[in-house]
Amino acid sequence: MGGVSPGAKRRVGVLISGRGSNFQALIDAAKAPDYPAEIVLCLSNKADAYGLRRAEDAGIAAAVISHRDFQSREAFEAELTKALEAAEVELVAQAGFMRILTRSFVQHWRDRLVNIHPSLLPAFPGLDTHARALEAGVKLHGCTVHLVREEVDTGPIIGQAAVSVQPGDDPDSLAARVLEAEHRLYPRCLRLLAEGKVTIAGDRALLPANPGGKKSDTSGPLICP
Ligand code: GRF
Repeated sequence: MGGVSPGAKRRVGVLISGRGSNFQALIDAAKAPDYPAEIVLCLSNKADAYGLRRAEDAGIAAAVISHRDFQSREAFEAELTKALEAAEVELVAQAGFMRILTRSFVQHWRDRLVNIHPSLLPAFPGLDTHARALEAGVKLHGCTVHLVREEVDTGPIIGQAAVSVQPGDDPDSLAARVLEAEHRLYPRCLRLLAEGKVTIAGDRALLPANPGGKKSDTSGPLICP
């Protein structure tokens, strides 16, 4: 991430496919003058994604790049990278982006590509996480922000937020509570990444144990209330 003067805001591109409520949470957080990142581009693979309206309302440049217009995943992703790099994006945040990314995209953006997933990973990777959590009878569910690796829903965990499963919960009620937690968690994790406070050690992300601590004084993922 060279070429950026210390203290400058990191330039973030957000990938969406739909509603974009996490995108909105990042937009709102980035309005704070001391937030270390600015969202400079939104890319959607769906022309009808509601998140595109959010970009317009916020005055953020946006484009639709439909995977259907490309012969291969690699060609689609090359177009994403081209648009991101044209906007001088440094960090890429997936926010409900419903395409599986290939190795070459993940490698290109390694440690600069972050995702939010609606479960406490490594539990329940993939889809239908809330129904599966209820089916499994877990008492704690939640969400995870992680750096993206090749295997779906893997990668160093930056932060997690836990949500209690309540008697009578159905997938929708549980999803709604997890989504509130997602909106708290994602801006905090992006802040840590943008501030350069995430160190990668093998498969794990290490964070400063406390804000005033020494650089060598590290701990695991952020636990978000
Ligand atoms: C969120 O639950 C996110 O964790 C998952 O997809 C959903 C996207 O919701 N990856 P939104 O588009 O951010 O509202």
